[in-house]
Amino acid sequence: MKNPVRILSGIQPSGILHIGNYFGMMRPAIALQEEGEALYFIADYHALTSLRDPIALRENSRRVALDFLACGLNPDKAALFLQSEVPQVTELAWILSTVTPVSRLELAHSYKDKVARGAAAAAGLFIYPVLMAADILIYDSDIVPVGKDQKQHIEITRDIAARINETFGSAGKAVLKLPEPRIQAQTEVVPGIDGQKMSKSYGNTIDIFGDEKETRKRVMSIVTDSTPVEAPKNPDVSTIVQLYALVASKDEVEKMREQFRKGGRGYGDFKKQLFEKLWDYFAPMRKRRDEILRDKNYINDVLGRGAGRANGIAHEVMKRVRGAVGL
Ligand code: TYM
Repeated sequence: MKNPVRILSGIQPSGILHIGNYFGMMRPAIALQEEGEALYFIADYHALTSLRDPIALRENSRRVALDFLACGLNPDKAALFLQSEVPQVTELAWILSTVTPVSRLELAHSYKDKVARGAAAAAGLFIYPVLMAADILIYDSDIVPVGKDQKQHIEITRDIAARINETFGSAGKAVLKLPEPRIQAQTEVVPGIDGQKMSKSYGNTIDIFGDEKETRKRVMSIVTDSTPVEAPKNPDVSTIVQLYALVASKDEVEKMREQFRKGGRGYGDFKKQLFEKLWDYFAPMRKRRDEILRDKNYINDVLGRGAGRANGIAHEVMKRVRGAVGL
């Protein structure tokens, strides 16, 4: 019998999850749990590159677990666990780092972007993609659902795996499996309220589980141009339309696009429409979230079971890697 496809992805608990995370990664990941063996983790080691508050890190990690479960992750199908519960990834990251050219890491957009925005150029931030490669390779992952910003990291992962295979593989026998990214074209970059990519670090997010008042405020502050109410507006360049398309039906989106072109309605009206749809879209998930919160042990149980499964796989792969490299 063929082994099931293994699907893996991670999310940093460096802040609160936003709708960019949801549409870019969580929704596709939740859909994929039906198609193979899914492993999803909370990247707490990675979050240490930007978050140095132990209480916040622990709280955020639990909150990511809660929010992911509320959004539909089914722990009977997909394992959910903390990255740091599988400490072998740091061992694999070390081994991978010994074949990774510094020049390859110097080209990583994410590192350059973070340093340009004022992050300290710590070694951990620089080798972030190596740890991410270890996360993926330690589970023999086939498919990695992510948003577009992670594409380069997966290319680096493939490159590192190929180097390990060239260096330590024997005829016809690879040490590590090369993964494929899975990026949904329609949601690969969800814009934030300023029109840039929505990101925890840019302060432009709409949170999945923000309260009603705050969510409305965020939606109403989406940046628009100064076209007057009566004038026609271009739906093709509007953040409002782009976000509306994530939560409304095709017909509803077409109607909004027409109203844009016709003129006579202000951006404020369209933002109200967007808020209503968005709020309704996440209503069942808010309900599920309240239910989970009532069961004190649920999250710990899920994370414990998930870590058990992940450790079993990581242990086997590390045995193979250690053997191949001579440890
Ligand atoms: P992170 O925590 O920044 O984001 C988690 C996931 O959400 C996606 N995403 C978006 N997609 C579309 N539009 C947006 N505006 C948007 N913002 C975020 C991201 O692409 C990502 O898929 N390095 C990773 C975490 C990680 C990981 C891994 C992922 C660590 N190890 C191994 C996959 C495999 C990160 O920082 O994602």
